[in-house]
Amino acid sequence: MNIVLGVSGSIAAYKSPDLVRRLREAGHEVRVVMSRGGMSFVTPLTLQAVSGYPVVYDLLDPAHEAGMGHIELARWADLILIAPASANLISRLAAGSAEDLLSAIVLATEKPVMLAPGMNRLMWANPFVQRNIAALSDANIDILTPGSGAQACGEVGLGRMPEPLEIRDHVTAFFQELENHAGKIDEDRGPLFGKKVVITAGPTVEEIDPVRYISNYSSGKMGYALANVAKNLGAEVQLVSGPVALPSPADVNLIAVKSADEMMQAVKQACNGADLFIAAAAVADYRVADRATEKIKKRDGSDELLLKLTKNPDILATIAKGPARPTLCVGFAAETNDIEENAKSKLQRKNVDMICLNDVSGGKVFGAADNEMLLFKRDGSITPIAKADKRIVAEKIFDAILELFSQSDRDIVNNS
Ligand code: PMT
Repeated sequence: MNIVLGVSGSIAAYKSPDLVRRLREAGHEVRVVMSRGGMSFVTPLTLQAVSGYPVVYDLLDPAHEAGMGHIELARWADLILIAPASANLISRLAAGSAEDLLSAIVLATEKPVMLAPGMNRLMWANPFVQRNIAALSDANIDILTPGSGAQACGEVGLGRMPEPLEIRDHVTAFFQELENHAGKIDEDRGPLFGKKVVITAGPTVEEIDPVRYISNYSSGKMGYALANVAKNLGAEVQLVSGPVALPSPADVNLIAVKSADEMMQAVKQACNGADLFIAAAAVADYRVADRATEKIKKRDGSDELLLKLTKNPDILATIAKGPARPTLCVGFAAETNDIEENAKSKLQRKNVDMICLNDVSGGKVFGAADNEMLLFKRDGSITPIAKADKRIVAEKIFDAILELFSQSDRDIVNNS
């Protein structure tokens, strides 16, 4: 972590070089900022030598303000640690003063601030100092309790700056706590928190004329169940849906489309920066080549009407083979015959990470409340999902997707 170490005017400043060493040993970057008082006890040169960075102390130094000025230092820091914090500096901080660089940095930061006071026992016990300490503590500044014992002034009592190793341990515990807290928040938010997921659902509708169309029996139940599960796992979900009679899922961005062409455009846009694309929609492979602008009339003298069809774009393959491919692309295969061969071939042909195969022979699956599946992955493994409500099936599909995400994270680590 990045630590700005403030050193103010207390005899305990002689321990600051050791503190810098201990913090660096613990893996932190340390930049030292001194008050004028601090420089009377230890030289900037010493602290520069142990920290590896120039030491700064002037608020109005043009050279310094153009480089790592007080605002930049306040931004750079993950923690502002002032050790020792003298009675004088504590009073300036409690008053909200910005008269020197160190107090200006404390005013200009949103980062945590920690003070290790160091002063004579009577100064520490003084009600003004205690009032200032209470005010800083109320402002969420972390105050380390000073140690007790023989003091440099010859007196014995409470007021000694904690030893560098104690301060380092306090800093370590503090960062650990922050990390645990952040981890806990992420856990609470779900394993897909921070991930953008795009899902297609339902049928597409390819118009023949203003009153007729070609479509299929997809109800959207499978795709909507996936969207709900993804949202509950913490993802930001965009659901690109063909016309269905289902309520829009809460907290999901629903993009309603009709034709495959419209779905293609919406998916392309939604997949910008996406982490996962799941194509659960039953997209018409063909559309009418010349959609009539007026209702086609029944013609006397002929029992046939021929419709010329033209191929629709393959949405899944376009995204999975495209330059902005999400980390994972998952396709479906709705098959009636040679089901496993067809699923394996789609896995390769469409360049996807997983194919969810459903056997739709005999009118199964389309519109039904339940489904059963085989999941085909690129490593050759096949995972069955027993017949269950589509919501349960969707949860099982996401178990496999979470495994694929952790696999891809491991691959990134191994390749870096
Ligand atoms: O909506 P329900 O009633 O709940 O039914 C669920 C379902 C049967 C629709 C669903 O489980 C399913 O199987 N969806 C995919 C149906 C399909 O179109 O399968 P396919 O084998 O024709 O296509 C393979 C994959 O390519 C699919 O992921 C499909 O979305 C995608 N595709 C296909 C054609 C195309 N032009 N663009 C595509 O993206």
